[in-house]
Amino acid sequence: MEKQLSILGFAGSLRKGSYNKAVLRAAAELVPNEASLEIFDLEGIPPFNQDFEKTPPDLVKQFKSKIRAADAILIVTPEHNYSVPGILKNAIDWASRPYGDNSFEGKPAAIMSASTGMLGGARAQYHLRQIFVFLDMHPVNHPEVMVPFAAQKIDEQGKVIDEETRKRIRQLLESLVAWTKKLKQ
Ligand SMILES: Cc1cc2nc3c(=O)[nH]c(=O)nc-3n(C[C@H](O)[C@H](O)[C@H](O)COP(=O)(O)O)c2cc1C
Repeated sequence: MEKQLSILGFAGSLRKGSYNKAVLRAAAELVPNEASLEIFDLEGIPPFNQDFEKTPPDLVKQFKSKIRAADAILIVTPEHNYSVPGILKNAIDWASRPYGDNSFEGKPAAIMSASTGMLGGARAQYHLRQIFVFLDMHPVNHPEVMVPFAAQKIDEQGKVIDEETRKRIRQLLESLVAWTKKLKQ
């Protein structure tokens, strides 16, 4: 039997009732059988300080080792002021340092975003893709999963109830699995 692919997912929101965390949880339910999705919570990662990049806090060490062990990365993020939220950029900065010890290097990745607005976080996704260039990551291009008007698609319990959104999440995960296998060849 083929080994299951491991995907590490994290959300760019710390909010308890986060729509993006809800989309990430839905992804964990919808992941294809040949893969597993582990969720990492960015809560507790302190502000990046380059003085400590060679001796990072334990949580950052743990984050980096989980990234390294994963076959692929899934990031589900809000858009803050037309870009990626500070807490996501901060976590990425820690995990990419020190120079020469970038834990994201060469990883296949997929991005999703959810927003209360009508563009669904598209601008944050494109900023994240630009960050991936320097990190030397390989994002899946299609389908693009942006969840606009998230409050109408996610219920009070934090469940994604919109069938079309669930279908697109599943399609993206299938693409990520296929892309990861292709890059491993
Ligand atoms: C600081 C801040 C900036 C925001 N900027 C944007 C934005 O540029 N585009 C957008 O679509 N929504 C923006 N929003 C609204 C978010 O889409 C909304 O708060 C969303 O629920 C955040 O995701 P979460 O539920 O996962 O925390 C912003 C929210 C905050 C708190």
